[in-house]
Amino acid sequence: MLKKKILLGISGGIAAVKAPLLVREFIKSNFEVKIAITNAAKEFVTPYSLSVLSQNEVVTNIFEFKNSKASTWHINLAEWCDIMLIAPATADLIAKIVNGIADDPVSILVLSLRAPLIICPSMDKEMWLNKSVQQNISILKERGYFILPPNEGELASGLYGIGRLPEIYEIKQFVEKVLSKNHQDFKNKNILVTAGPTYEKIDAVRFIGNFSSGKMGFAIANAFALRGGNVNLVSGPVKLDTPKNINRIDITSANEMFEHVKKNYRNSDIIVMCAAVSDFTPNKKFHNKFKKGNLHSNILSIELKQTKDILKFLGEKKGKKILVGFALETENLIQNGRKKLKEKKLDMIVCNKLGKNSGFNSDTNKIVILDKFGNEKKIGTLSKFDTANEILDYISKNFLHWIV
Ligand code: CTP
Repeated sequence: MLKKKILLGISGGIAAVKAPLLVREFIKSNFEVKIAITNAAKEFVTPYSLSVLSQNEVVTNIFEFKNSKASTWHINLAEWCDIMLIAPATADLIAKIVNGIADDPVSILVLSLRAPLIICPSMDKEMWLNKSVQQNISILKERGYFILPPNEGELASGLYGIGRLPEIYEIKQFVEKVLSKNHQDFKNKNILVTAGPTYEKIDAVRFIGNFSSGKMGFAIANAFALRGGNVNLVSGPVKLDTPKNINRIDITSANEMFEHVKKNYRNSDIIVMCAAVSDFTPNKKFHNKFKKGNLHSNILSIELKQTKDILKFLGEKKGKKILVGFALETENLIQNGRKKLKEKKLDMIVCNKLGKNSGFNSDTNKIVILDKFGNEKKIGTLSKFDTANEILDYISKNFLHWIV
């Protein structure tokens, strides 16, 4: 059987003392193991013992790697491996990766890596829960790196809490899972996602809009792309960068969104309407700026007409596609969500209530998923990217088999 090739990066936390056991486990499981360690890691584990166990030279210094072309060892190793694992990953190394710093043998490999990267953070509980570390972890997840979070238990300090490196068998199982390409469950699937608000022009300088930031829709598009999907993202006016490997189409009004969805929906296997589409648009638009001097009183009435319900249109035409809607509610969340699910002929609907940590503009969300079989799944407050992956997990588990 062909050996799988793992590149192990070790940084300088106390859990580095477990690295030799990890190497043993991978060798026993038919992996070839190559190792790079930071200077700080050398305080906890010796390169010599790692080299004996892995039967390979260990990279300990950017400039002193003997058995390879000196200048390109980081490229050679990055191209060689099927997967890279960093265990343990300290708060310092995580921050370096977020910022693209490459001044030690582990962080430099991350920059040149072609394969998937798994990061196993391990540190004191307060350090792990620190806002900077948590923000850095969110950024790494959104970039598509796999994070195996630490376990709760006894810590090196004698304190109890979250921060322990997961057990050796848990790390190995996680590596196997990522390698088995489970995470590529939407490979070759065509996905259409809508995001953000729409702006309905009143005159040359004014519009009717809403407070949608587009963050949820962008997180969904990103999660699909990272899990192998071919993603078209139709977006209203938002201030967000386009995630990698996504075809973004910018629109302004509800009508333009409808036109682009109409163009793209036939080729799509899965459609997620996350956009906060305006339900109304001015019946008459003023070409120039409307001047208040034109008013005979201090009241201006703007007549509005309804826009096309894009999701309802899709529900009528759907065929074998998987159709997912959103419902943003201020009251009767489940009742209103069920009503929309049925009326718009959806497979599932993601309901969220406007609140402090959910809905428009927030970085987190708290949702309830309802499906057409009458099931209901509540998901607690998570980052929008983690929420997106929960939504994708639900689609993958319950609907994806329709279109395989
Ligand atoms: N939607 C749509 N076209 C519209 C309005 C909404 O496709 N013109 C979609 C949204 O993208 C969302 C779902 O319909 O997926 C529900 O949107 P929401 O604003 O919660 O509800 P509405 O159907 O507009 O009903 P109401 O405003 O009365 O709550």
